[in-house]
Amino acid sequence: MFEEGQYFAPVVKKDDGSVSVELSEGHPGLHDPTYRERRDRIATAAAQWTPGEPPPVIDYTDAEHEVWRVVCADLHEKHRTYACREYLDGKEAFGLPDDHVPQLADLSAALAPLTGFAYQPAAGLVPLREFYGALADRGFWATQYVRHHSVPLYTPEPDVLHEVVGHGNTLADRRFTDLYEAAGAAARRVESDEALQFVSKVFWFTLEFGVVHEPDGLKAYGAGILSSPGEIEEFRHMTIRPLDLVEMGTTEYDITHYQEVLFAASSFAQVQDVVGGFWDTCTDDSIAAMRSAA
Ligand code: TRP
Ligand code: FE
Repeated sequence: MFEEGQYFAPVVKKDDGSVSVELSEGHPGLHDPTYRERRDRIATAAAQWTPGEPPPVIDYTDAEHEVWRVVCADLHEKHRTYACREYLDGKEAFGLPDDHVPQLADLSAALAPLTGFAYQPAAGLVPLREFYGALADRGFWATQYVRHHSVPLYTPEPDVLHEVVGHGNTLADRRFTDLYEAAGAAARRVESDEALQFVSKVFWFTLEFGVVHEPDGLKAYGAGILSSPGEIEEFRHMTIRPLDLVEMGTTEYDITHYQEVLFAASSFAQVQDVVGGFWDTCTDDSIAAMRSAA
């Protein structure tokens, strides 16, 4: 998942219907023509997708499958130590392959009996209202490209590993999908951009970067931590604040680095009650009152 204003390479549409992805200075793939050609091809397939159809099938290369293998093998051990119970349950139910990049179309079929969620291919940045609106209908916008092989530990752009290993394993468990759907419904309900921004920041500090206390220590339930072999080893050393809606909805963050401030729930049930309850009932007025309390 990604948001307006976040680091995300812009996609430029050309007259022939293809698109080209503009990587910025400092991107590890900037001077790698093979990588750039791949990015453009994968983005073009998404741009040409017809809503209602399954996502396009991507002909992943051996090099891309290798990045998938490296990241999955690394994360497998780390999930056992650092992932919360509910995520591990979803991971077991979903049964992702660890030796090749799976196709979003096949994953949607696997999610259908579990939670009914389905992936939609994103060429690039999806505006907030569209991203969250899809969640309300159990649709999840996802990129299909693979991070550059030179930096598998962390990428500032959400890639297919983030969408599938990070989010996919949560999209397989109803305790999570109830939260995604509630966030979607909240985003549809509110009208002002300020309220939408608040809803989205709460999403950021929970479903993207949330952590939760378990009897044997602090665990991650946010997809952004769970898809990064680097960040998953560091989150316990960050500034950990107690779960607080007003603070989450108003705290600034920088998406290009490991998150320095995280909000810890006392239990997953607290996330369901407090965050789920907020999304279930929030309105422009209730959010305006919370923002003025900040
Ligand atoms: N850093 C994440 C990873 O390495 C991917 C990612 C990039 C991301 N941008 C994000 C995750 C924004 C959540 C939100 O897997
Ligand atoms: Fe995400």
